[in-house]
Amino acid sequence: MTSVATPGLDNAPTTHARLLAWVREMAELTTPDRVVWVDGSDEEWERLTQQLVDAGTFTRLEKKPNSFWCASDPSDVARVEDRTFICSVDEADAGPTNNWMDPGEMKSIMTELYRGCMRGRTMYVIPFCMGPVEAENPMFGVELTDSEYVVVSMRVMARIGSAILEAMGEDRPFVPAMHSLGAPLDEGQQDVPWPCSETKYIVHFPEERMIWSYGSGYGGNALLGKKCYSLRIASVMARDEGWLAEHMLILKLTSPQQKTYYIAAAFPSACGKTNLAMLEPTIPGWKVETLGDDIAWMRFGEDGRLYALNPEFGLFGVAPGTGWDTNPNAMRTIDKGNSVFTNVALTDDGDIWWEGMTEEPPAHLTSWKKQDWTPGSDEPSSHPNSRFCTPITQCPILAPEYTDPKGVPISAILFGGRRKTTIPLVTEARDWNHGVFMGATLSSETTAAATGAVGVVRRDPFAMLPFIGYNAGDYFGHWVETGKQHDATKLPKIFYVNWFRRDEDGGFLWPGFGENSRVLKWVVERLEGTAAAEETAVGHVPTPDSLDVSGLDMTREQVEKALAVDKDEWRAEVPQITEWFQKFGDKLPSTMWDELAILEHRLA
Ligand code: GDP
Ligand code: PGA
Ligand code: MN
Repeated sequence: MTSVATPGLDNAPTTHARLLAWVREMAELTTPDRVVWVDGSDEEWERLTQQLVDAGTFTRLEKKPNSFWCASDPSDVARVEDRTFICSVDEADAGPTNNWMDPGEMKSIMTELYRGCMRGRTMYVIPFCMGPVEAENPMFGVELTDSEYVVVSMRVMARIGSAILEAMGEDRPFVPAMHSLGAPLDEGQQDVPWPCSETKYIVHFPEERMIWSYGSGYGGNALLGKKCYSLRIASVMARDEGWLAEHMLILKLTSPQQKTYYIAAAFPSACGKTNLAMLEPTIPGWKVETLGDDIAWMRFGEDGRLYALNPEFGLFGVAPGTGWDTNPNAMRTIDKGNSVFTNVALTDDGDIWWEGMTEEPPAHLTSWKKQDWTPGSDEPSSHPNSRFCTPITQCPILAPEYTDPKGVPISAILFGGRRKTTIPLVTEARDWNHGVFMGATLSSETTAAATGAVGVVRRDPFAMLPFIGYNAGDYFGHWVETGKQHDATKLPKIFYVNWFRRDEDGGFLWPGFGENSRVLKWVVERLEGTAAAEETAVGHVPTPDSLDVSGLDMTREQVEKALAVDKDEWRAEVPQITEWFQKFGDKLPSTMWDELAILEHRLA
């Protein structure tokens, strides 16, 4: 039988010619049993979640409304950076930090993988929009997928469905985002709860603004509006069009004097973005509201200020460590239901649990590996990269500006990583270029958010190492240019934070979480010109008295240790930074070498 008869292919609810042609081409290649145009309705959610329950992929939670427990295949739990490619026409445009393959070669390999790969399955067409569809230039995408899990998760994470398709009209541009689990079903073959393939490819064609993903069902590999579109493809668009697509949370901070500041912060995956975005301040009179927890698109406004917008519609948060003590607003958000929990543990009464949710674990659980689990078990009940996927509109502290397509004017940008040593709790950059240097040299210990070793220190520039869709040297240059082309007095001030410094016994020096409001307070007081700082070799660091530690269970010595600039530790960074910069050859802006020379000079 030919694909012309594929149900759903000939009665599409759109006249968008390019979209129709692409869907047909992909359906003919992948040969699904049927094509379904996703409308984003409640009925569709009901149908698909029930289908996932019937397939054994989802377990409906008794204790949370309209919510589901899901365990993935144990081999498919995180982003696969070694299988992620930037297939630019010219290899130099992918740069030294990305995997590259010739686009033609990659397409021929993947075309063979895609051939017949949806046999026995449904191809879903998901029209989506990153950011409000009311924007001047709505950022459309269409994901094709053979995974019901992806459809359901995309409905949480992005604006999807009929209204988006309608807004696309017959010729609006969109990013084609092709996804397959790579697990075709033969006639009569029993499906597994989490189909996927051992062969995985997460591929970006930056010039064509196109994404091809194969073999994985995990969030960052499969929900293509998120890291693939909103960071890798969008960073290329941003370079070409003079804006910024960044791995940043956005928060609104109100001081006791009712002054409002918007702050963006870039931390690598699993280094505290979601937590900071939803922070409950411990210091009286301060208020935080959430705008975004992972991605910020930033453009300059007519007033010369930098405005940030969160293009996403949901939260895809790291579950372990999220609890009533650490992140009560995340707990309140998920308690409202309408959520998918992947690779956490299931309680006997139909709720979810993970390490760090409560101090005492339940006496018995079903682990993410679907095994019996008790507090005496050797392994954690939940995978360290287990996730909650929940609508951002349920966040009780969501700022009303969230829906404004214009975004919010940013006063401060924080860069941060996970470092046991060296990096002080907070450092203010001397100026924009010094801040770009901080971003370009950002380092962090690897986490479970990507496959591979955990706890290894690596450079993660701007927390974007796995997400820059082009040559990272050019990306640094784009940041330097951004500073040059705009009024310096209106640019955000840049800071570098580290919540993860340790003492000799291996414990965290800084209590973190809600107490990070004390650092935000110092940042605001620096913006207002009221807080003192010590000028060190690496930038302006709070004097122990300028940081509000009142009521904190910390000795002065501990505070000093958290803030310390140890010249020997920093001298050890210099050759590492030199080696890092050498990778970029003449793509590295010369200002970065100048900044390194300043650092060396100040350390001497
Ligand atoms: P994201 O992936 O960048 O959004 O990171 P999350 O906010 O989800 O946090 C990742 C992990 O770091 C979780 O286990 C958190 O509990 C933990 N974490 C977040 N903020 C802090 C902090 O201030 N201090 C410490 N010690 N851990 C934190
Ligand atoms: P995050 O990314 O860890 O930055 O929240 C999600 C992902 O890895 O897909
Ligand atoms: Mn997060």
